[in-house]
Amino acid sequence: MEETRSLNDQIRYLFYPRSIAVVGASRKPGKIGHIILKNLRDYGFKGKLYPVNPHATEILGFKAYPSVTAIPDEVDMAVIVVPAAIVPQILKDCGKKGVKVCVVISSGFKEIGRVDLENMIVKIAKENGMRILGPNIFGVYYAPSRMNATFGPLEVLPGNIALISQSGALGIALMGWTVLEEIGLSAIVSVGNKADIDDADLLEFFGKDEHTRVILIYMEGIKRAREFMKIAKQVSKKKPIIVIKAGRSSHGMKAVASHTGSLAGSDQIYSAAFRQCGVLRALNIEEAFDWARALSKLNPPTQKNTVIITNGGGIGVMATDAAEENGIPLLEPSEELMKKFRKYMPPFGSPRNPVDLTGQATHKEYYGAILEALNSPEVGSVIVLYCETAVADPGKVADAVLDAVNSSKIAKPLVVAMVGGEATEKAIKKLNKSGIPAYPTPERAVSALSALFRWTSWREKTVS
Ligand code: ACO
Repeated sequence: MEETRSLNDQIRYLFYPRSIAVVGASRKPGKIGHIILKNLRDYGFKGKLYPVNPHATEILGFKAYPSVTAIPDEVDMAVIVVPAAIVPQILKDCGKKGVKVCVVISSGFKEIGRVDLENMIVKIAKENGMRILGPNIFGVYYAPSRMNATFGPLEVLPGNIALISQSGALGIALMGWTVLEEIGLSAIVSVGNKADIDDADLLEFFGKDEHTRVILIYMEGIKRAREFMKIAKQVSKKKPIIVIKAGRSSHGMKAVASHTGSLAGSDQIYSAAFRQCGVLRALNIEEAFDWARALSKLNPPTQKNTVIITNGGGIGVMATDAAEENGIPLLEPSEELMKKFRKYMPPFGSPRNPVDLTGQATHKEYYGAILEALNSPEVGSVIVLYCETAVADPGKVADAVLDAVNSSKIAKPLVVAMVGGEATEKAIKKLNKSGIPAYPTPERAVSALSALFRWTSWREKTVS
């Protein structure tokens, strides 16, 4: 084990390989080995690509080689896409060639009871000074290297969230979903059976990675729990770590065992451990990405007093309830601040918190009230709520939010919830694209802001 860990530097080659061999690159479109080579080529991988297939001379315009050892150049990374039974032989070849890291896509190891085969590939890798990602995975993506070595969708939006997934199908599905949701990713790593490289190794890398601001992990079990906690405790002081830990129920734990061969472990123990090392535990995908969206865009607040600005009373009350339930302190505005808010509402509006601009508010009133809140030293953060009306065009309200943020003197956390139809959905996308976390319900906006508050409190407690 110690020997493998001293090979930690090899992990850098998983993200910055100068050359990649795709072993089992297929000639046939639609096969996994073909798609991976195509994704690497079409996403614009910056390094060199070498298909390896003893039955081909050329694949997708690249010269093909009968084996890794026949490649006349150094090979940093090998993506292995051949049936499990021949993976050991391929790994031996990679060892001879001096490959640094092997991404083993193939299934048919521990997850089907072939612990012996899995142990064998780890042993070969160790003996040859290599690291293994997988087996039983869909691959790895890293935006700075323009590397899409997966058989997931080609298009991934580059960004600053690193996603580590123990589930293959879920990880692939999330690749497409994040594009739809305007969520940018720095990396996607499918860890599968975690025979060698595990969450702790990856946390260590992403903790130092300047391209990653938030780390999001879908996990079913932890391999080196103590090491994970030690590293997570350090990394979470610098960057938020969000974990979805599946297998919470007794039946869920059994499902985990047959999926990736992991032991799910007691759920309360996991929750307690995550709390101890500053990991934010999300219950589902929606929550995890809502939090990641806010944490990847917003800076920690200098104070927590929050103001809610709305054009609807009901939505304001819902956000107030959610704020209280999530421990977000709401500001009691001073007379002076209320006087400023009154400028942007009719006499029947309310300058208290929630600040109710009323249903007759247009984007102009939104702009004025948001700017007052952002510039006021009383206010730590702002929640903007909008219900679609014919008076206020959602696109213009989104622009007003952006203009106010850009004109404000002090940068403060601000989240938006917009409820309405198609035009509102477009406005939400526009805000998210422009770096303002926006959501379709008040509860989701409040929950995202509270994740930022919780992470900030953790940092304040631990960083002296
Ligand atoms: N070296 C290099 N290439 C070789 C070798 C060799 N020694 N021997 C054969 N090949 C070639 C084959 O000829 C073939 O190319 P071709 O199609 O041009 O003839 C290619 O390598 C692939 O070999 P096949 O035997 O055709 O294997 P196949 O593509 O059917 O399956 C695979 C390989 C995909 C790795 C399969 O065994 C497997 O494990 N599938 C599951 C993968 C998976 O789902 N992983 C988990 C993902 S996560 C999730 O759940 C989505």
